[in-house]
Amino acid sequence: MISFAGQCEVGRFCVHCELIHLAKDFEWTGLDVVCLVDCFTGLVKMACKTIKLNTGAAMPTIGLGTWKSKPGEVKAAVETAIDAGYRHIDCSIVYRNEAEIGEAIQSKIQEGVIRREDLFITSKLFVTFHRRVRDCIERSLRSLKLEYVDLYLIHWPMGFHFNPGDVLEMTKDGKPYMDEEIHYVDVWEEMEKLQKEGLTKAIGVSNFNKHQVAEILQSCAIPPAVNQYESHAYLQQDDLLKFCQSNAIVVTAYSPLGSADRPWAKPDDPKPLEDAIIKEIAEKHNKTAAQVLLRYQIQRGMVVIPKSVTQSRIQSNFLVFDFELNEDEMSLIRKQDRNWRALKNEWLYGHKHHPFNENNCE
Ligand SMILES: NC(=O)c1ccc[n+]([C@@H]2O[C@H](COP(=O)([O-])OP(=O)(O)OC[C@H]3O[C@@H](n4cnc5c(N)ncnc54)[C@H](OP(=O)(O)O)[C@@H]3O)[C@@H](O)[C@H]2O)c1
Repeated sequence: MISFAGQCEVGRFCVHCELIHLAKDFEWTGLDVVCLVDCFTGLVKMACKTIKLNTGAAMPTIGLGTWKSKPGEVKAAVETAIDAGYRHIDCSIVYRNEAEIGEAIQSKIQEGVIRREDLFITSKLFVTFHRRVRDCIERSLRSLKLEYVDLYLIHWPMGFHFNPGDVLEMTKDGKPYMDEEIHYVDVWEEMEKLQKEGLTKAIGVSNFNKHQVAEILQSCAIPPAVNQYESHAYLQQDDLLKFCQSNAIVVTAYSPLGSADRPWAKPDDPKPLEDAIIKEIAEKHNKTAAQVLLRYQIQRGMVVIPKSVTQSRIQSNFLVFDFELNEDEMSLIRKQDRNWRALKNEWLYGHKHHPFNENNCE
């Protein structure tokens, strides 16, 4: 990993290549610096370690995912990630582990490893809180022990009845009570207030299709900074990516490794991590399949948030800035797309705001 030991007026010292590089060759993420010049060939690398949001803020292009990371293991995972160089953590009230994530952040701040402003913390408005937007972010901030998050997302466009909170209220026939009267365009207005009041530095959406993003863009005062949706080698959604990028919306790819630990996974489901082409490319670069999958998305201009609670994987998933996929390799991976979705949320298909209702639309 490239890290930096010191700095001088005109440049910074890279402990990897032991050279001083000019400031223009660096991308800063608080304490975290990446050398954009290949230490050995002198070539400028294509991938950046941060990407600029339409707010002007720098968002680290790799973050730690925390869905399914249990209390009892998520604190160690976040601490390992911060020690490995991650500065971006992806959270949500519905993952039910934000309190422990908050403890990990506090312990790393107290150790002097990071300052709050070095971190990029994302959280999300759960579907049962579409009429209680402020309540939801305040709960997350309390758990995370933070005064603000860096990005707050509408988790899904569909609204559901408020129950005690992050649990869906069920009807007698086992269907969740939908709230189709609340529209995400109105929820967005409430999100804008959160940014104006400083509870979040930026706002965005998640699981919104092209049509839904366009609707927000038409009526908003603050445009979304990010759309977070499922994207990996088997679900590339190129149209949606281009649409977002052409509107200055950064895309975060969730489940970038194929979400093998999703609770409904079946043994015969596709597994991007086991793809023969990906493995072959990985071998050529002396990298893992996971690193190739992540690097592919970063080279497409996306942010990735791989989840892991395994120390060695958390560390190795971060090592994606010291190699580059060439055009042939990018094109080979592009051809692996099969429009396969790990998270269809099929049981909620009846909801009129479900983003994938219409023919799995982008
Ligand atoms: N906005 C949304 O609606 C939404 C939906 C889904 C996900 N997300 C976010 O995106 C994050 C990532 O997505 P995800 O959790 O669905 O799936 P993912 O990151 O694609 O995959 C996680 C799985 O991959 C394993 N893994 C991690 N690194 C690996 C490696 N180097 N080699 C082999 N296996 C590896 C993990 O195992 P171990 O943990 O056991 O190491 C876990 O089983 C989530 O955690 C969440 O923060 C958001």
